[in-house]
Amino acid sequence: MRLDRLLALRGPFNRQQARLAIATGRARVAGAVVREAEHEVSEFDTVEADGAVIQPGRPARYYMLHKPTGCASATHDPQHRTVLDLLALPNKQELHLAGRLDYNTTGLLILTNDGQWSRRLTQPGSKLPKRYRVYTEAPILPEYAEVFARGLYFAFENLTTQPAQLTLLGSHVAELCLVEGRYHQVKRMFGHFQNRVVGLHRLSMGPLQLDSRLAPGQYRALSTEEIALV
Ligand code: URA
Repeated sequence: MRLDRLLALRGPFNRQQARLAIATGRARVAGAVVREAEHEVSEFDTVEADGAVIQPGRPARYYMLHKPTGCASATHDPQHRTVLDLLALPNKQELHLAGRLDYNTTGLLILTNDGQWSRRLTQPGSKLPKRYRVYTEAPILPEYAEVFARGLYFAFENLTTQPAQLTLLGSHVAELCLVEGRYHQVKRMFGHFQNRVVGLHRLSMGPLQLDSRLAPGQYRALSTEEIALV
């Protein structure tokens, strides 16, 4: 929200008084004087005017979890253990998932309370690459790479998948890089060749890589540098 709007909504000002207070250096955001009425403030910023706190701000929180198998990517599930059950954190209900993984898929999962930040990571338009390690029942043939690079038609959504890169690592294991996240996308892509995915692990989402020191079920806060990458 714009700073002048926030001051007028939450402070003892009308819009004109708010603009005057800002222009004359009486407003602070995160402790620093801001003189631009259009300055964007988030729910995480402390905002003050004339020395009074107009919005206390709240801490923005960002975590990476190594999701184990047998766990739902949800914040509530009537039947299954959820990823939230793995976190020993206060106020964890305020966190949401930046992208999901299937029940038995493992690997990188991001949780945060910052909706604007997580949208940058997940919105289809951003086309951030997501890398997966894929283990299959039958051998992976070299022709898969060409078909995935061209795109596959998904009748249910009536669309062709974006070009995806496949790198063979062994007869039954490969790395796949996608720039989108359709429902069960990896399994459906290999399903095109009647080849069942028996193991799936997400290695990275855009600039964020799963920390190899995290065992399945473990998590850690993102560093300031990691947060700034998104
Ligand atoms: N594609 C899938 O099929 N499953 C996942 O969990 C992620 C991508």
